[in-house]
Amino acid sequence: MIGAAREGLPISITGLGCHVPERVVTNDELARYVDTSDEWIRTRTGIRERRIAAESEALSDLALPAARKALEQAGVRAVDVDLIIVATVTPDMAFPSTAALLADRLGAGDAGAYDLSAGCTGFMYALAQAYGMLAAGLAQRALVVGGDVLSRILDWSDRSTLVLFGDGAGAVVLEAVDDGGFLGFELGADGAGGAHLWLPGSGSRLFDDSSRHVKMNGPEVFKFATRVLVQSAAAVLHRCGIAIEDVDVYVPHQANVRIIDYATKKLGIPSDRVVINVDRYGNTSSGSIPLALADAQADGRLRPGSLVLMTGMGAGLTWGSALLRWTKETA
Ligand code: ACO
Repeated sequence: MIGAAREGLPISITGLGCHVPERVVTNDELARYVDTSDEWIRTRTGIRERRIAAESEALSDLALPAARKALEQAGVRAVDVDLIIVATVTPDMAFPSTAALLADRLGAGDAGAYDLSAGCTGFMYALAQAYGMLAAGLAQRALVVGGDVLSRILDWSDRSTLVLFGDGAGAVVLEAVDDGGFLGFELGADGAGGAHLWLPGSGSRLFDDSSRHVKMNGPEVFKFATRVLVQSAAAVLHRCGIAIEDVDVYVPHQANVRIIDYATKKLGIPSDRVVINVDRYGNTSSGSIPLALADAQADGRLRPGSLVLMTGMGAGLTWGSALLRWTKETA
C-alpha cells in the first residue's frame, strides 16, 4: 500500500512522549545467563545495554506515562482524544485491549480504542491508520502508542534472540495543523517470510512445543531488513516527489546498527542525519521508532519544517515508511 497525503488537509504529530523501565541490563549481565560477550554483542549489533521491565510492569504501565507526556506536549486533554491505537505484540493480555485499558487510565472515555499487531512495524501501521481516520473526518485527535515488553516472550536461555531486544514505549498525538504534516505512507507485508520470525503458542494454532518464545532466523531477517529499509524508504520518497537529499532526519527501526548503517549508505543519507539509540535500548519492537523520535526531539533535531523519514520493519514479515514535515515548535 502506498499513498500521498491529501492536499490541503495537513495532519501532524503535535505531541511526543516516551517511557522506558528503570532497570538497565548490560551485555555483561546477559553474559551471566547465556554464552555470549559484550564484545560479540557490540560488534554484531551495536547494542551496549537495554531496559527490562520489572515483574510488576506490563505494557500499559509503560504506555501510560508515555501517553501523558505526549498529551501534555500537544496541550490536549485526555477527555478530548477520540481515537487510541496501541501497536504491540505484547499487550497486557489478549483482551481487554491495552488501548482500552489505557483509555480508562487516562480518562479518555469517548475514545475508540484498539490494539494493532504488525510486529516491529506496528507503530508505522498505526500512524498510517490514525492519519487515515483523521483525514476521513472520523476522528479529530488521535493518540498512537508503540510499545513492547519483549523481555516477557524471550527465551532467556537462547543467546541468538536474548541479546537483541529491550522494553519501552512511545506515544504521539496526531491532529490537524495549519501546514506541514504527513506527506505519505508506504506499508507492506510478506506472510510467506513470516516463518523467519514467529511466536509459537501465542494464538489459536496449536504446536507440539508449547513454549511461548520468540523464534528467529537471524541471517534471513538481516537480509530482509536491509532490503526493505531501502526499498520502502525509496518508494515513499518517490511517491511524494521528494529527493533523498532533502531528508533532514532519518529514523529507521532500531534493530541492529549494522542494518541501519547498510540502509543509510545504500540510500545515500549522511550519517549525521540518522537517529540511532539501539546502543542504549536494543530493539524495542513497536517502541523503537517513537523512542528514537523522542531522542531526536530531545537533541533539538526536530525543528519546524524538518523533513522526517521513518521506516520500520519486523515480524509478519512487515515493513512501513512515513514521510513527515515536522510542524511543532519544540524546546
Ligand atoms: N553471542 C555469541 N555468539 C553468538 C550469539 C551471541 N549472542 N548469537 C549467535 N552467535 C554465534 C552463532 O552461533 C554463530 O556461531 P558459529 O559460527 O559457531 O555457528 C556466530 O555467532 C555467527 O552467527 P550469525 O547468526 O551468522 O551472526 P550474524 O553476524 O548474522 O549476527 C544477528 C546475528 C545479530 C542475529 C544478525 O543476524 C541480525 O541482526 N539479524 C537480524 C535480527 C533482527 O533484527 N531481528 C529483529 C528484526 S524485526 C523486529 O524488530 C522484531
